[in-house]
Amino acid sequence: MNVLGIETSCDETAIAVVRDGRQILSNVVASQVEMHARYGGVVPELASRQHVEAITLVLDEALERAHCRLADIDAVAVTTGPGLAGALLVGANFGKALAYVRSLPMVAVNHLEGHIYAAWLDVEREPRFPALCLTVSGGHSDIVLMSGHGRYHRLGQTVDDAAGEAFDKVGRLLGLGFPGGPAVERLAARSGATTLRLPRARLDGAYDFSFSGLKSKVLRLVRGEEGEQPHTDELAAAFQEAVVDSLVTKAVRAVQDHDVRQLILSGGVAANSVLREALADRSPVPLSVPPPLLCTDNGAMVAACGWQRLQAGDVAALDVDVRPGLRIG
Ligand code: KG4
Ligand code: ZN
Repeated sequence: MNVLGIETSCDETAIAVVRDGRQILSNVVASQVEMHARYGGVVPELASRQHVEAITLVLDEALERAHCRLADIDAVAVTTGPGLAGALLVGANFGKALAYVRSLPMVAVNHLEGHIYAAWLDVEREPRFPALCLTVSGGHSDIVLMSGHGRYHRLGQTVDDAAGEAFDKVGRLLGLGFPGGPAVERLAARSGATTLRLPRARLDGAYDFSFSGLKSKVLRLVRGEEGEQPHTDELAAAFQEAVVDSLVTKAVRAVQDHDVRQLILSGGVAANSVLREALADRSPVPLSVPPPLLCTDNGAMVAACGWQRLQAGDVAALDVDVRPGLRIG
């Protein structure tokens, strides 16, 4: 079964064709990052307009690369939340139109669930249940217990900034442009060993995160308000180390407390190699983490998730609405 996955929740117009929820036939991502970089972050209205301009071209390219025609598509899966309302609407309406004219079933996919299902794409060994999911992106940082397909219980979340948001804000403070995550990682890699240690938040919620205090600390150091200003590469490395340490410590604790068989790392921040290595080192159970290009937003993860939903008979009505504030678990 060929599922077309459509993703427009933020600043990537992405469409993929995935066979049986696992085999990627094509995965096309048109990034708007250069356009938004001028403004230091994603401008919602510009994102929506750009999705409108790009989406039919992205569809053509996805079909061509998959050596498919529309007639070869068996179902449409589309992200309906969470995300930017206007941006979500473009993909959702495009998906509805395709489903309507081709009389295809349509599945409404939760973007965060989509990130998790990237772990099922093109793998020899599928993740096993129960699994613990650490989902870290520009908008969310969640620790979710996944007891089976489509069954989630959220154990923890960020109480302020998401991990990716913190990377983006610190990237801006260090003059690195947008998005901050990859740029902070590159700068941190140039730093030698550093003695600079930034604070980790202590929180009541055993599996919750907080990154805004860390970001403020970087701001004070950059402004020279705490004595001599550290080198930017050293600051980037210390910041990255603090974020990674918080994420890994809480995820490992959740794994130990819940007797799971698998740890799944996903979302844009999961592209970070320091986080990937630290979690692989410290996880007491096998770690499943998609390659970096499947961690950041893409259509294949939406198709993979949509296929699973279809197996459960979860087809959406064509008047389904977008849900910008949707959560998971
Ligand atoms: O999942 P995603 O592509 O979009 C959202 O759903 O938000 O995640 C984007 C986020 C951005 O904040 C970006 O800075 C961060 O993921 N990111 C990274 C890296 N690559 C992307 N953060 C740290 N290190 C990276 N290599
Ligand atoms: Zn995402």
